[in-house]
Amino acid sequence: MGSRIIGTGKAVPATSLTNHDLERQLETSDEWIRSRTGIASRYLMRTGEALLDIADEASRRALDKAGIKAGELDAIVAGTVSSEYAFPSFACQVQRTLGVSTIPAFDVAAACSGFIFALAVADNAMRAGVWKKVLVIGADALSTMVDWSDRRTAVLFGDGAGAVVLVNEPGPRGVLETLLRSAGEAWDLLSLRATGIRASADSELRRDGADTLKMRGPELFKIAVKSMADITRQVVERAGVTLEEVRVIVPHQANIRILNAVADRLGIPYDKVFINLDRYGNTSAASVPIALDEAWEAGRFCDNDLVLLNACGGGLTWGASLLRW
Ligand SMILES: CC(C)(COP(=O)(O)OP(=O)(O)OC[C@H]1O[C@@H](n2cnc3c(N)ncnc32)[C@H](O)[C@@H]1OP(=O)(O)O)[C@@H](O)C(=O)NCCC(=O)NCCS
Repeated sequence: MGSRIIGTGKAVPATSLTNHDLERQLETSDEWIRSRTGIASRYLMRTGEALLDIADEASRRALDKAGIKAGELDAIVAGTVSSEYAFPSFACQVQRTLGVSTIPAFDVAAACSGFIFALAVADNAMRAGVWKKVLVIGADALSTMVDWSDRRTAVLFGDGAGAVVLVNEPGPRGVLETLLRSAGEAWDLLSLRATGIRASADSELRRDGADTLKMRGPELFKIAVKSMADITRQVVERAGVTLEEVRVIVPHQANIRILNAVADRLGIPYDKVFINLDRYGNTSAASVPIALDEAWEAGRFCDNDLVLLNACGGGLTWGASLLRW
């Protein structure tokens, strides 16, 4: 009793900002950003736009493609760290916009690995026979959390949402294996203090609205390469297949140099790895489902092909999921 993805969808904000646009507001250059990251442009939310609307659009597209009505869903699981509200959960907010009542809806916080973690939670519950149809969302808007005067982080991120519909289905197709890892001891390589008001009974109210995303990029780079390569090797081994049999890897899109270094370690050709970060930047939990939707639309894999998803992000967290499409 496994689960299979039968619909994917994505949505992004209306505005795409190029590296040249950023040159006008930061001490940076198109040449630096392209050569150090592979990013050429990214979609960023503007005043009046909400991540919730973008996630709602991605979810409706995934449901349409799956041929399933929102009312048929048994659960909504969202990977995100950028909800406007600490509670209700982002998934509950999407539940409301989709007009679905009483099914469980909750978030999984694993930063850039959020979609893979959410997918694993849904898949495991479906293997246990708990749910039959689940909407899994990856949505983030880290542009709302970076310091826009810090060129080391501001150029990297973009906003967006992706979603998939999973159905419980016996048979050889679907999620074959998923592996998840976390390393809390390295939490401070990539972090963001929760904003809002903090207080205790014996202290004054304290606001931390100025806190922004903090990243130790070069250290993170090295760990991302090692962890994504290791987990990829481990997940195919556990599934009893080889990397050669995998048709395409759809990774978290953080940096082209990370992805090329992972491919080098694995000894696979670069064209086995689906890349779209040039147009999106790092969209955190949204990046894998957005890339999966594009790779499917682009015909990068067919029915019964092996498709491998992997990601690494704040936590640290990392994971990989092997699917037979
Ligand atoms: C962030 C990252 C692109 C930086 O690339 P890097 O080659 O490691 O660059 P460094 O941070 O060592 O900086 C090198 C120089 O470029 C400069 N620089 C940094 N950002 C710049 C920018 N946007 N434009 C121009 N110069 C920049 C730095 O100030 C530094 O200059 P200095 O040597 O005079 O101090 C890279 O470390 C990275 O991708 N790390 C992983 C980040 C990531 O993926 N995070 C999310 C994980 S999910």
